[in-house]
Amino acid sequence: MNKAEQLASLVRNAKHMVVLTGAGMSTESGIPDFRSSEGLWKKYDPFTVSHVDTIDNDYDAFHSFYGQRIAQQLQNISPNEGHNILARWEAAGIVKFLATQNVENLHQRAGSKNVAQLHGGLDHIYCHHCGTPSTLEAFLEKKPCSSCGGRLRPNIVLFGEMLPQDVWSQAFTEIARSDLLLIIGTSLRVSPVNQLPLEARGKIAIINMDETPFDDKFDLVIREKAAEVLREVESLL
Ligand code: APR
Repeated sequence: MNKAEQLASLVRNAKHMVVLTGAGMSTESGIPDFRSSEGLWKKYDPFTVSHVDTIDNDYDAFHSFYGQRIAQQLQNISPNEGHNILARWEAAGIVKFLATQNVENLHQRAGSKNVAQLHGGLDHIYCHHCGTPSTLEAFLEKKPCSSCGGRLRPNIVLFGEMLPQDVWSQAFTEIARSDLLLIIGTSLRVSPVNQLPLEARGKIAIINMDETPFDDKFDLVIREKAAEVLREVESLL
């Protein structure tokens, strides 16, 4: 059996399949990932633009980076066939739960409903100092908080911040009870998410173009593009 046939066999036999995705899920939607050769962290220092301290220390750098990512999200990005297939698999009862590190909401826009956004989402803005909710437009126009004059930010997990406890424990529980964990498009370099696969008790498969530090722990490693593999697997189900 080729690797897509092996994955199709694992999917057919799974009773509680869970999916964990990263930025590699969205590159085929035109959104760069972070650590591959064309990744964002090759152009920007993550600890400058994506660290919580930057909001107070260098708001211009923080705002410039996230302003362009939010503007891009509002423009012409859309789910790719990989997102659509995972949504169809949820509707068919194949995928029971999806945890993502991604913040552009493409899984939900494709129709996935049972989604845990482990690193939050770019589509909600609030004041970093008083928590008052604000709007994408106010953030893009670099307006101060309407309540305290503080600095606005998207509701995502920055370096130096904790993950939302509710989504973390939901993902932890679902992965621990899965009999198949399918990991797609993540370098598994960022904790604590990269510890989640170690909680899986069943089979683990990964679709990722580059190797990860955990590949030797997985039952199936597929070094191909996510959407292509998912399309082939769907045709074999
Ligand atoms: N198909 C399969 N794999 C792909 C594809 C694709 N079309 N495109 C890219 N990849 C792989 C790359 O080889 C890379 O190993 O996806 C992986 C993406 O890894 P990262 O860029 O590190 O992204 P991710 O793992 O999601 O990063 C985790 O780090 O910077 C923080 O908060 C940010 O959520 C992000 C976290």
